[in-house]
Order: sequence, then C-alpha cells, then structure tokens
Amino acid sequence: MATRTSIAQASRRPHGRSRTRTALLLGLSGLLAGAGVTALAGTADAASTLQSAAAGKGRYFGAAVAAGHLGEAPYVSTLDTEFGAVTPENEMKWDAVESNRNSFSFGAADQIVGHARGKGMKVRGHTLVWHSQLPGWVSGLGATDLRTAMNNHITQVMQHYKGQIYAWDVVNEAFQDGGSGARRSSPFQDKLGNGFIEEAFRTARAADPAAKLCYNDYNTDGVNAKSNAVYAMVKDFKARGVPVDCVGFQSHFNSSSPVPGDYQANLQRFADLGVDVQITELDIEGSGSSQATSYANVVKACLAVSRCTGVTVWGVTDKYSWRSSGTPLLFDGNYGKKPAYDAVLAALGGSGSGGGGGGGGGSAACTVSYAKGQEWSDRYNGTVTVTAGSAAISGWTTTVTMTSPQKVSATWNGTPSWDGSGNVMTMRPNGNGTLAAGASTSFGFTVMKNGSTASPALGSCTAS
Ligand code: XIL
Repeated sequence: MATRTSIAQASRRPHGRSRTRTALLLGLSGLLAGAGVTALAGTADAASTLQSAAAGKGRYFGAAVAAGHLGEAPYVSTLDTEFGAVTPENEMKWDAVESNRNSFSFGAADQIVGHARGKGMKVRGHTLVWHSQLPGWVSGLGATDLRTAMNNHITQVMQHYKGQIYAWDVVNEAFQDGGSGARRSSPFQDKLGNGFIEEAFRTARAADPAAKLCYNDYNTDGVNAKSNAVYAMVKDFKARGVPVDCVGFQSHFNSSSPVPGDYQANLQRFADLGVDVQITELDIEGSGSSQATSYANVVKACLAVSRCTGVTVWGVTDKYSWRSSGTPLLFDGNYGKKPAYDAVLAALGGSGSGGGGGGGGGSAACTVSYAKGQEWSDRYNGTVTVTAGSAAISGWTTTVTMTSPQKVSATWNGTPSWDGSGNVMTMRPNGNGTLAAGASTSFGFTVMKNGSTASPALGSCTAS
C-alpha cells in the first residue's frame, strides 16, 4: 500500500447531475452564468442523498472507487445511490497504466470510467505526474528521456479519456512537508527542475482542452509554509498564463492532523487567485460525533467558498479504506450510514435521519470561524468569531484545539477552561453571552509555537 506510513506527519479531493427545478431557477441560472458564477439551485425539497443534496448547492459529491469492488452489489448500490462523481483510487496512476514504457493498459480505469459515465457521474482523473506509484523505468531515465516520457504519458492518458474527465490532477504532491516551502525531491524535480510542473500543465492543456487542470496536494489544507509555497506557484502560473484551473486539497485528517481552523480561509485565498478549489481525498479518522463534526465543518467550508466545486471522499466504505483501521469514511463496513454521513447530509442542506454535527436548524445555533492575526517568530495571535444562527442566543461554547507542543499564553474577550492535556481550550462568553439572530462576537488568544506552526482546529459551536 501507500509509501506513506503515517498520517501523523501530515496535516495532511465531479458533478452534479443537478436537477433544475423551477422556471425561476432557470432564469436565475442564466443571470448567474452571465456573471461567471455557477448556478446554485436554491430552495427545494430537502434532498436525501449526498449527491442530490450537493447538487442542490451547485456542487458534486464524489468518492474514490476501486475497480476491484465493482462486482460487490452493496458497494455498487451505495456508490450509485449516494455519489455523483468518482475518482479512480489507483487505476489511473502511472504504474497502473504505463508499467512498461509506451505500453498502455487502461482496462481497470476504463471499467470505472464506463460505470461512472453510465450513471451520469463526473470523473476526476488521478493522477498524471507523481513521485509515488511510479514505475522503476521512469526513475531510471536521464533528463531528456524523462521529459519525453512525461509528456508522452500525459498526452496518451489524457487523449484516451478525452472529453470524459471533469478535472485532472495533473501534478500531485510536488512540495515538501515542513517549513521550507521547497519542492519535493522526485525524478521529475531532480532531473527537470522546477519547470516540470509548468511543462506538465502546458502539455495537459494541449491533450484535452476541455478538462480542468488541477494541482493536488496534502498538508496544504490550512495556511502554512507548504500551502504558501503552492499558493505562490499558482499565483505565478495565473500571472504568466500557465494553464491551471483548480487546486485540490486532499484533506486526510486525524487527531494529530485535525481540520485546520483556517481551512475555509485557505480555500478562499486560493479561490481568490482565480482557480476552482476542490476537496479531493477527504477522510477523517475517528468515530461518532467528533468525526461527524469534523466532516460537517469541511463540507460547510466548501459551501462557503463559491469556487469550491465539490467534495470527494477517499472511498465508499471503511472496510476498503486505505486507512481502514481509522474508520475514516461515511459508511461502515456493512454500508451502514455513520453519524458522519448524517452530519454531511445535514451540512449539505439535505434531510436525513437527522443526526450529527454542530449547530442545528430553527432554534438556538451558532457557527465559528478562525482567522490568524499577527505573527512573531515564537508566537501568533488568533481570533475566533462566533455568529448566532437565525435565532437569538443567550450563550455559546466552542473549543479550540492546539497542536502539541503549542500552548496558549493569553486570551481575551472570553472565559477559557482547559482539558487535561492543556491542548483543548473550551471558550465561553465573558458575562452575558447574548447575541441577536445573525450577530457576531469575537474572542482572541496568543499561541506559543514551541516549534510548531500548525493552525488551531475549531470544534463546533454550541448555543443555548
Ligand atoms: C492511496 C490509495 O488509497 C491506496 O490504495 C494506495 O495503496 C496508495 O495511494 N494521496 C493520493 C492518493 O494522492 O493517490 C493516495 O491513494 C492517498 C494519498
């Protein structure tokens, strides 16, 4: 399996068969299309599947799929009922399609693409140029041959699927983890230099001009040195006319790499560069309500960013997850819906069995968002804004989790309490916590980095 053994070092994801419902919406979509904005279906009956609910918000909801499971009836019925997009989990990787030079085998990938297209689902192509799952013959080439092989690989694979792929992960994981912001060592980087990424995107545009071209990575989900480096690259590409259309955020989370508090802000800053953003490989280890809350937070962040076009979870069922021991997906091993499923459906505005996740509907509810403030070499300030839902509230509580060994050294405009580890801060109002419907208040804190630049993670907001 993966070359990656631990997610701990990581803070480490196509289409709505959107059913237009009314003449009013048709008119609205025309207006929005004129303004260059994706049409969002507005009010409608609450949808009861992930894809129908996502489509109601103008998004797709997808899953990574393995060809080997397409013979299993409950796997296929769950996929077909709930999802509107697929990403082949391994079948389009270099080692799968071109294990010998210029000899291409598309059988397994064709199976997935055929199934998906037969059901009207989008397909994300994953991935063309990546240091992992790369056959040995590629690593052994000299620079001139490698350049030819890379461009041939991109061209052959994209032309095979021309017109059938919503978005391609053209280059995957080209940056290093940690604070350097440097490119990762790989045969491409080491022999072709920084320019290989640009070359890959230009070759890809020529091969299938209709496909959206994405850069995809992990550990770029919050604002950090790695995401800053990707941001600088995308900004430069946009400025110079290098064809990049989207950035994928893998979003593999667990307790040591939780959903960053500035996840939405990070998606937004990329979107502001003029690219789409997508959650491309979402999975969150855990169970029960904490897993559900994290999933809901990710989905809400995507919905809050107009250029976030969709969410893909990295598998259908826990039992086939690449991290199955962490039970990171929405369906258990028996294809039962988990609390995380209910929370995602609710966050998408769908109607489910009514479970999980933070803030609810008509009565007292609140949401939280995080913004990083001033930063020094040893510490940074953060602000959390608490916003009441559609009804007035009389109090609120939320949690902020720091990544060890970070510690909070000061707080203002709130009353904190701490868990045993000293990493989880529960914040309540100072005195009167009343907020009118839709009104906001903020509290702040200073975090001593102690060597870690990670952003804090927010829990859900509980209103009373
Ligand atoms: C993983 C697959 O899920 C595993 O089956 C395989 O053994 C290794 O790769 N980042 C990516 C994905 O971009 O392609 C990886 O998928 C997970 C991490």
